[in-house]
Amino acid sequence: MRIDTLHLEDFRNYRLFDAAFHPSVNVIYGENAQGKTNLLEAMAYLSGVSARARYDRELIRFDTSRARLKATVSGRGRQFDLEAILQQGQRRQLSSNGVKLKAMAELGQVLNTVLFRPEDLYLIREGAATRRRFLDECICQLRPRYAAALTEYKRLHEHKTRILRDSIEKPSLLDTLDAFSYGMARAGAVVIHYRAHFIRRLEETAPAIHQDFSGDRETLSLDYETVSTVTDPKAPPRVLFDQLLSHQASHRQAEIASRTCLSGPHKDDLLVDIDGRAAKTYSSQGQTRTAALSVKLAAREIFFQETGEYPVLLLDDVLSELDSRRQAFVLNRIRGGQVFITCCEEEKLAGVEKGAAFHIHGGGLLQ
Ligand SMILES: Nc1ncnc2c1ncn2[C@@H]1O[C@H](COP(=O)(O)OP(=O)(O)OP(=O)(O)O)[C@@H](O)[C@H]1O
Ligand SMILES: [Mg+2]
Repeated sequence: MRIDTLHLEDFRNYRLFDAAFHPSVNVIYGENAQGKTNLLEAMAYLSGVSARARYDRELIRFDTSRARLKATVSGRGRQFDLEAILQQGQRRQLSSNGVKLKAMAELGQVLNTVLFRPEDLYLIREGAATRRRFLDECICQLRPRYAAALTEYKRLHEHKTRILRDSIEKPSLLDTLDAFSYGMARAGAVVIHYRAHFIRRLEETAPAIHQDFSGDRETLSLDYETVSTVTDPKAPPRVLFDQLLSHQASHRQAEIASRTCLSGPHKDDLLVDIDGRAAKTYSSQGQTRTAALSVKLAAREIFFQETGEYPVLLLDDVLSELDSRRQAFVLNRIRGGQVFITCCEEEKLAGVEKGAAFHIHGGGLLQ
């Protein structure tokens, strides 16, 4: 899978940008604050991943009201024209080969990306929400049914949280509580089922990468932590559904008393151990960064196994945070597939076999 061309209008600090990319390694370099990260953000957006903006309006260039992103993408032996139009105060318009798309997730069925930002090196150290987001981004790109269940789950979760919060002033709101719990158990069962299967795939893939990365010195292991009544998270959703309902029932009073949702996969975590101990608690900075990279690169392998094509790898400023041995490892691990690497000085990537290099300056391309 690859991005052949990208066209931007009034996206972030780009007034107008046009480029054709190389099918292998593309180096994006330039000084700070010139637009390197913005460029990767645009590519991630067209794969259905909103990388750092909370709202689309942040993506529209200051003092303008409309942004346009277009890419030609090759994948599955076909060509796709992807387009996104973001307009102040209006719904985003997305299309693939001129056909309207209803949701961001549908972009992910055409273009897959794996984005690695400097903060992703802290994937293991941060709270569980960061790891859930990682899982969600990966699985949404692979499984449309997961994306739908997750959206539904989040919607019900927000609503139930509001009910619990407002129930002191308005106790009658609690009449609807069980209906929301029921819906959350239904959608939640699908969410857990898919997360469990994806984590199993990570377990099969990430340890070997980590072993290589650590020079055979460390053993990585992964596990899925979910609702305590779930006996086998890989079980079919109808089995999980009953187990989720029983957990909710036993926490019903506590939820009302604490006025928060205590039961459900919104509290899930991906547990990461190095040499049998929780990496989050015991491992060094270098070890947890290495583990984070291993897990993300494993996700890329899983996409390849699933689809027969590597997702586009977007590496934003990652190398500067790593020592030279780890840098060399990353660069050797990314064979196959298209890669975009940003850095400030082109010389940093002296050892990389470059397909093409792009010098970004002030939201434009320096020729
Ligand atoms: N909506 C927007 N409109 C115009 N400019 C924006 C918008 N959003 C961000 N910018 C600007 O884009 C500039 C470039 O940001 P970007 O993060 O891409 O830089 P960078 O080249 O990755 O820099 P660094 O090397 O520091 O990571 C920033 O100075 C920021 O102020
Ligand atoms: Mg940047």
